[in-house]
Amino acid sequence: MKGNSILLVFFFVSLFLAESISAAQSGDVNANGVYIVYMGAADSGNGSLRNDHSQILSTVLKRNENALVRNYKYGFSGFAARLSKEEAQLIAKNPGVVSVFPDPVLKLHTTRSWEFLKYQTDVKIDDSDSNANGDDTIIGILDTGIWPESASFGDKGTSPVPSRWKGTCMKAKDFSSSNCNRKLIGARYYSDDAFGTPRDTVGHGTHVASTAAGSTVADASYYGLAEGIAKGGSPGSRVAMYKVCAQFGCRGSAILAAFDDAIADGVDVLSLSLGAPAEGRPELTSDPIAIGAFHAVEHGITVVCSAGNDGPNSNAVANDAPWLLTVAATTIDRDFESNVVLGGNKKAIIKGEGINFSPLSKSPTYSLVYGESAKADNAKLVEARNCYPGALDENKIKGKIVLCEGNDDEFSTSDKIDVVKEAQGVGVISINDQTRAVASVYRTFPATVISSKDATTVLQYVNSTNNPVATILETESVSNYKPAPMVAYFSSRGPSTLSRNILKPDIAAPGVNILAAWTGNDTDEAPSGKEPPQFNVISGTSMACPHVSGVAAAVKSRNPTWSPSAIKSAIITTATQKNNLKAPITTDSGLVATPYDYGAGELTTAGPLQPGLVYETTTADYLNYLCFLGLSVTDIKVISKTVSDGFTCPKDSNAGMISNINYPSIAISNFNANEIKNVTRTVTNVGGDDQTVYSSVVEAPSGVNVKVTPAKLQFTKSSKKLSYQVVFSLTSTSLEQDVFGSISWTNGKFTVRSPFVLSKR
Ligand SMILES: *[C@@H]1O[C@H](CO)[C@@H](O)[C@H](O)[C@H]1NC(C)=O
Ligand SMILES: *[C@@H]1O[C@H](CO)[C@@H](O)[C@H](O)[C@H]1NC(C)=O
Ligand SMILES: *[C@@H]1O[C@H](CO)[C@@H](O)[C@H](O)[C@H]1NC(C)=O
Ligand SMILES: *[C@@H]1O[C@H](CO)[C@@H](O)[C@H](O)[C@H]1NC(C)=O
Repeated sequence: MKGNSILLVFFFVSLFLAESISAAQSGDVNANGVYIVYMGAADSGNGSLRNDHSQILSTVLKRNENALVRNYKYGFSGFAARLSKEEAQLIAKNPGVVSVFPDPVLKLHTTRSWEFLKYQTDVKIDDSDSNANGDDTIIGILDTGIWPESASFGDKGTSPVPSRWKGTCMKAKDFSSSNCNRKLIGARYYSDDAFGTPRDTVGHGTHVASTAAGSTVADASYYGLAEGIAKGGSPGSRVAMYKVCAQFGCRGSAILAAFDDAIADGVDVLSLSLGAPAEGRPELTSDPIAIGAFHAVEHGITVVCSAGNDGPNSNAVANDAPWLLTVAATTIDRDFESNVVLGGNKKAIIKGEGINFSPLSKSPTYSLVYGESAKADNAKLVEARNCYPGALDENKIKGKIVLCEGNDDEFSTSDKIDVVKEAQGVGVISINDQTRAVASVYRTFPATVISSKDATTVLQYVNSTNNPVATILETESVSNYKPAPMVAYFSSRGPSTLSRNILKPDIAAPGVNILAAWTGNDTDEAPSGKEPPQFNVISGTSMACPHVSGVAAAVKSRNPTWSPSAIKSAIITTATQKNNLKAPITTDSGLVATPYDYGAGELTTAGPLQPGLVYETTTADYLNYLCFLGLSVTDIKVISKTVSDGFTCPKDSNAGMISNINYPSIAISNFNANEIKNVTRTVTNVGGDDQTVYSSVVEAPSGVNVKVTPAKLQFTKSSKKLSYQVVFSLTSTSLEQDVFGSISWTNGKFTVRSPFVLSKR
């Protein structure tokens, strides 16, 4: 996406790993010569050298200079240091060192160019239940920092800072301790230079933080569009910002330092709207998010991450370790329509999507030209049709609205606007079926996106007359748009590349056209002549993640003793699969969504507070997962503080056994004919009634037999935990493709649903 005049806001921060040790050493722009040395749990295992990082360093370093960059010691053990490749390799040989890897370079990844208005999420928590308000839970956010003056971080009516909070409000040139209050209780930054500050100059961190836990702000809007009340998913929760990203990057060493601090500070939930892109996925033992989150979860912190914006390709989901809650993005029931009015007798109105403050007249009086008809002499027809730079004859588009093909091409609508603007064209109508659902902000320039189907109508009109005319109307926000939600086209899809035996993503939440707080001085985001916006509308799985973090905080607030896996289970098993037409949720292309698109389905807000039953996953489950992935027992013992010395990996450790981890969904790989696959799950009754009977309900795909034993679960005062088995077999010869179904348990009051996936490979 080059040459965008429209500001690109990043929606999903990407982490690029230095390709190899040699790349990190070769003066590559991404390399800082820093290696991360990961040494497992902070207070486990044997060996005095575990927490004595300088001693390890001095055993290999022949020089005197201070090589240590960061020390990790609260939540886990390790350090980051400037090392040569040889030194890194020597350190890796030390017992107690799990992995040594080049400090990954994290970059803000501007995958797509859209920005937006209006915050109207589906997160509606019953305010009459003050416990569900998230009071006193602390949400830590790893992001670009925060704009503390935003009304979303006002602390009116908020009770004092919880006494267990041990975090801090770091000072900087433009940030004082008085910038923290009872809402924003902590702010840290991790840059080494003099310009370090917790203040957000990007907008992303402020946006995400206010979505998770913003205070209620009346009359929020983007220049009057889509006005309403803005508030976070858990408006009573506190925010702690850990600034690990700047405009152009986030360091893995900083992410690990933030995890380490957040564990010591006492956060309840961590929200990360960042991750690795589909290409260049790190291994588990060199992935700062997977490592940091493992220890955070072991310390009772729920970690919520975005799934990535690499959709709609499959095998693209990021942050897919089983201890993470992985969030896909969906649309909401709000649309930003900038419609096209055609001339002629009918004055047909074509629905378009985009955010602009079009100064054009409302009557269709502007000449309309198809890009193809304005081809420059030396250009290819297809390039002109797509309005590529250099492909249009400027004389043929001056003063006109230009219609551009936009499906399947290399340039964004913003690039085409540049082309048309330069030639003094007055508007752009772009044809794009994917971006049709996601409104971009074009500010004052009249631009809008229409579907191919509607484009046919426009083209027929253009063909029917010698002087076609049209206009582009100023954007209006439309509520109760149907159908919604839909899975956003950019949302990264499963299956997981780490293992097909854990279903990822886990859940979907609103991530399209989300209005939330913004930095206070961003003139680039303002239409000409306007003050900078206080709220901005953007899209991405980055925006979906904090919706789930907010709900996780509300669940934690109501059930303070619940483990991260119980909270995660509550969120997954209460998801909905229906849209606002009471029909199955679809993807943007109209196909019924599968668990690879949205995990268990769309987040609900009341359900997770009272799930009835929960699936609890233990640290032992996660360690077995590491065994199945091939880590050595020695490393695993170093990684976890809870394992006893007697820990051994299961005999015949194999990938198929991952299916038996007590996860709230079920995924089975290599499912072939004449095979019986058998999984066990254990549920815990948290529904309030000690005596209750749950019955199973199975939704099976055709050609598959699913038998649940026992078919009823009878809970009593003394048996709160019960197990069941599911036996899957094929009735047909073999699977044509991966198939999906679900197993639900219901006692009439609660329904506890687990999706399942049976895959061929
Ligand atoms: C640590 O290991 C040494 C030998 O390697 C042993 O003598 C010592 O007792 C161990 N300490 C603990 C606390 O296990
Ligand atoms: C418009 O006319 C062109 C050339 O006459 C033709 O190829 C095209 O199919 C027509 N388009 C529509 C939508 O009728
Ligand atoms: C906004 O404020 C920040 C922090 O004070 C500053 O670094 C930045 O340059 C300002 N941006 C603009 C556009 O004024
Ligand atoms: C499923 O596995 C369990 C434990 O390995 C075993 O006890 C049970 O008999 C198996 N059921 C079937 C139908 O294979």
